Amino acid sequence: MDTLLNLQALPLGAAIGGPAVAVGGITLFFIRQYVKDQNKKSSTFPPPPEVPGLPVIGNLLQLKEKKPHKTFTKWAETYGPIYSIKTGSNNMIVLNSNDVAKEAMVTKYSSISTRKLSNALKILTSDKSIVAMSDYNEFYKTAKRNLLTSTLGPIAQKRHCVHRDVMINNICEQFRAHVEMYPSESVNFRKIFQSELFGLALKQAIGEDVNSIYVKELGSTLSRDEIFKILVIDPMEGAIEVDWRDFFPYLKWIPNKGFEYKIQQMYFRRQAVMKALIEEQKKRIACGVEVNCYLDYLLSEANTLSEQQVLMLLWEAIIEASDTTLVTSEWAMYELSKDPERQNRLLMEIQSVCGSNKLTEAKLCQLPYLAAIFHETLRKHSPVPIVPLRYVHEDAQLGGYTIREGSEIAINIYGCNMDRNIWDSPKEWKPERFLNRKDDTLELHKTMSFGGGKRACAGALQAMLISCVAIGRLVQEFEWKLKEGEEDNVDTLGLTTHKLHPLLTIPKPRN
Ligand code: HEM
Repeated sequence: MDTLLNLQALPLGAAIGGPAVAVGGITLFFIRQYVKDQNKKSSTFPPPPEVPGLPVIGNLLQLKEKKPHKTFTKWAETYGPIYSIKTGSNNMIVLNSNDVAKEAMVTKYSSISTRKLSNALKILTSDKSIVAMSDYNEFYKTAKRNLLTSTLGPIAQKRHCVHRDVMINNICEQFRAHVEMYPSESVNFRKIFQSELFGLALKQAIGEDVNSIYVKELGSTLSRDEIFKILVIDPMEGAIEVDWRDFFPYLKWIPNKGFEYKIQQMYFRRQAVMKALIEEQKKRIACGVEVNCYLDYLLSEANTLSEQQVLMLLWEAIIEASDTTLVTSEWAMYELSKDPERQNRLLMEIQSVCGSNKLTEAKLCQLPYLAAIFHETLRKHSPVPIVPLRYVHEDAQLGGYTIREGSEIAINIYGCNMDRNIWDSPKEWKPERFLNRKDDTLELHKTMSFGGGKRACAGALQAMLISCVAIGRLVQEFEWKLKEGEEDNVDTLGLTTHKLHPLLTIPKPRN
């Protein structure tokens, strides 16, 4: 390796003068030779074990129940943490342990940094025009920098703190109003939380929560619920629409009209609503009113972006802020509502740190049990169970196996978080497992739930701030009890692991 480093230093000098050019040429020759030798060595590693499937369709039938993360985890018990499957004519390598997942996301990132999108996602993301689905290129780097500087980075999050305060106060207010109207009756947790979270997403992205909007292309005025459906619910459903041509790319010339119509409709409506929302805000800006939000930032600082790019980036910020944080908060409140002892332990911790004051973000670093509840919920109910697929663009080695160029890589976060070699009794919800660890209370990556490496989640800080303060305040102000019969409602649905049945829980105000 030292030899290689020395050789690499030489071409720099080659720029200085004639004779050095020749030295540079020889150097390049050695480097190429070295890389070839390494590749030969890598090909001596065996390919990963294969999960047996059927001719032509491979393992597709075994994956038909739309919860691939669970099937992948089951297969890992037989085939080990890394194995290959066939989805039609595609080779997919599935990674199920922290070690191989980290190797793929960090050490081997340069050879597996291209996103592999389904046909539905290609359309819905305007062909990779959002940060989370972009390949690692100049657009990605600039867009991610803009997103962090204006919205999701630590300094921007401080500026947006006021929206989170308003949000959590509104949520508590609404639960209080529910109790006054229907004492001892259960409340649909999701309905209240989701609506407030969407309001926050809109304020951060376009500078204003909206009640309705007139959409010229659709010829009607849409309510807030309709806007939410078009911007968030429909695309989340569309993202998991299956186009059989994804699995047989050589048949892509055959039309799939039903699928195309459905996704194009979603795309068209999303475009129309986003355009209307942006136009409204441009009128505000034209009147000289500036707001601290992503839209104002992009229009003033990122003026090389096209209108379509701005539209897509704003939509991304809205959909990403509106979904996964709800998933985590809802599962955490489900677990606490059925576990009075742990709920009480959390209350004690909050009272000892905050006294009779309301819990605030500033106190989070002193509340390790609350942080443990957040991380344990992320672990057991990983909101993004599989990292968006990546594509191996040159032969690579992972976990002692050779992965061939052209394979797809699926990182099964759920599988990593359920790995018995790391987590004792992984199916149990046990926040205590995160106590007495050396890492900082506010460390975000205690599990694989936010991904890792260069593509780790950009919204992890926001998710933690919102979820932890919400869980803490709700337990500080109310005692929670599951509605009878709710214990077994643990099924999930969708791209992110939403609770299939919204949480029904009974809040009782504390004195
Ligand atoms: C509990 C909540 C959340 C979880 C579990 C989560 C999880 C993830 C995961 C697993 C990835 C993929 C990482 C990869 O490809 O390696 C990701 C990427 C991303 N997430 Fe999150 N996320 C959450 C909340 C949010 C929020 C609230 C936002 C924004 C408002 C957000 C914005 C993003 C972005 C922009 C990326 C792409 C990062 C990149 O490609 O560089 N996430 N998230």
